[in-house]
Amino acid sequence: MVTGATSGIGRQVAYRLALDGATTVVVGRGAARAEATSRELAIASGNPRVEWIGVSDLADLSDGRRVAREVRERFPKVAILVNNAGAYYQHRETTRDGLERTFALNVLAPFVLTTELEGVLRTGAPSRVVQVASAAHRGYTIDLSDLQSERAYRGFAAYGRSKLALLLLTREFARRWAATEVTINAVHPGFVRSGFGRNNAGATARMIRVASALFGTSILRGADTPVFVASDPSVAGISGEYFVRRRTARASAASRDTEAAARLFDRCAELAGTTVATQ
Ligand SMILES: NC(=O)c1ccc[n+]([C@@H]2O[C@H](COP(=O)([O-])OP(=O)(O)OC[C@H]3O[C@@H](n4cnc5c(N)ncnc54)[C@H](OP(=O)(O)O)[C@@H]3O)[C@@H](O)[C@H]2O)c1
Repeated sequence: MVTGATSGIGRQVAYRLALDGATTVVVGRGAARAEATSRELAIASGNPRVEWIGVSDLADLSDGRRVAREVRERFPKVAILVNNAGAYYQHRETTRDGLERTFALNVLAPFVLTTELEGVLRTGAPSRVVQVASAAHRGYTIDLSDLQSERAYRGFAAYGRSKLALLLLTREFARRWAATEVTINAVHPGFVRSGFGRNNAGATARMIRVASALFGTSILRGADTPVFVASDPSVAGISGEYFVRRRTARASAASRDTEAAARLFDRCAELAGTTVATQ
């Protein structure tokens, strides 16, 4: 199961997993696009088992929960969950739940999907969760008293902190799941020429487009490490790590703060209104 699979890195990850023969679930924005993508990937991969689930906005808690419910109803076992959907927002926006949008999409949505799919991941074990994070987490610290960036908002800082939060949650999930056969790891896909940043207008969007055209790597390469961590036999049993170019890498010191990780996890559970069973 891959979120954000209608375009960019996620689409290529879904294609590669389908090519490997997996029953692949495209989770994508807009039912028509998700369905069309699943059809195209089925033809391209020669694997007819490419399913789809449409979402309207994964940043809305209710949408994330509905996706999880649908997955549980349709697929009793999940072996791979790739939390890929994510975005950068130049200006502060809030979701229907009143949450800052970068945090809601890049942190809380994967948190909700991962917690709500824990049962089917356990049934599908040995199973893996892959969090598409970013090297952009470096240089930031987490402020648990201002997770919604209410005091000040700068787009790149909000994005960097959201990926730092994803790394912290990855470590905490791994700690809680240590006795299970469900592993969870984060990846940096590289600086990739994708649609990233295009949801913004003006100079920043242009700058991202120009920089990625000049210096970005292909979507093919961007998908390589997420697919490797999702499926390569050598990654079996490894959990709580951060991968760059297929290798475990040292993430920032702030992302290895176990106390902050536990507190952030509890805060996300409160915000998501979930009862977290794992300890
Ligand atoms: N590109 C890079 O250099 C880079 C570097 C490090 C990390 N990353 C991370 O890699 C992941 C994939 O990004 P990408 O580079 O492939 O960018 P992308 O081309 O913009 O793809 C992002 C995907 O997320 C989906 N998405 C965005 N907002 C959504 C929402 N509110 N609800 C549901 N789905 C939503 C998009 O759906 P649509 O198809 O509808 O737009 C798209 O499929 C992100 O988590 C990003 O932070 C990217």
